[in-house]
Amino acid sequence: MLLKVDNVSVSYGAVEALKAVSLAVSGAEIVAVLGANGAGKTTLLKAISGLVPIKSGSILYDGQKLHELPAHVIARLGVVHIPEGRKVFATLTVEENLNLGGYGCAKEEVQKAKARVFQLFPVLKERRRQLAGTLSGGEQQMLAIGRGLMRSPKLMLLDEPSLGLAPLLVDQVFATILQINKDGVPILLVEQNARKALSIANQAYILEVGRIVLAGAARELAADERVRQAYLGGVTYERRLRAKESRATGNTPDPRG
Ligand SMILES: Nc1ncnc2c1ncn2[C@@H]1O[C@H](COP(=O)(O)OP(=O)(O)O)[C@@H](O)[C@H]1O
Ligand SMILES: [Mg+2]
Repeated sequence: MLLKVDNVSVSYGAVEALKAVSLAVSGAEIVAVLGANGAGKTTLLKAISGLVPIKSGSILYDGQKLHELPAHVIARLGVVHIPEGRKVFATLTVEENLNLGGYGCAKEEVQKAKARVFQLFPVLKERRRQLAGTLSGGEQQMLAIGRGLMRSPKLMLLDEPSLGLAPLLVDQVFATILQINKDGVPILLVEQNARKALSIANQAYILEVGRIVLAGAARELAADERVRQAYLGGVTYERRLRAKESRATGNTPDPRG
């Protein structure tokens, strides 16, 4: 296992945000952690990257105890955290944002990584001299991911990349995440968009108020009735209503729902 989170608890004062959470990421996969707002997803990623202290448990990465290391050392080990809310430097250009992502790396490495980012996100290449603050939400998310890629991650932690994006852009961002993983980067992805996350993940965990309540292969979770009801919409209200109407009128319901 590349990453092993074992029985980790985190508290903010009296608020217990994570309660004995355990999960693992192997060297090649996308692991999704699904949960509603406030479930503890961001706290989990912050605990791994050293931004919040853990109260108990352990976090092992490539043989190292991350929970004993400061955030800048964890970052240098190749653990790249893309925070929620697409935090790009609005008053810097796209290219300057990318260069900052590669800060401290060798010049040739920065050039190579940038070429790769521009290949993954052609729109960032087109807009390289544009101020990041003028990009659309989807483009800013791409830039935030691109900036993380400048450090040649060995493990990428992605916090709700789809939040607030239009459906078409969500598809684009998820397709890129899949591509980055295919290029060899293991990914721990936390998301409220369960349907999308399960469609690209290998393994998945469900986090409810600080606790893992369900875990398994993403494909199995997508078919699990409890997951479908709570996270995939289950049978929608409109669909039930239409079925009821059609029973009353004798028409067969549209199978597409
Ligand atoms: N800095 C903080 N101080 C106090 N409570 C916090 C802080 N950050 C998060 N929390 C609380 O911890 C819980 C988990 O939050 P968070 O990890 O942000 O969840 P998620 O990312 O799943 O929405 C929530 O109850 C939230 O209110
Ligand atoms: Mg969050």
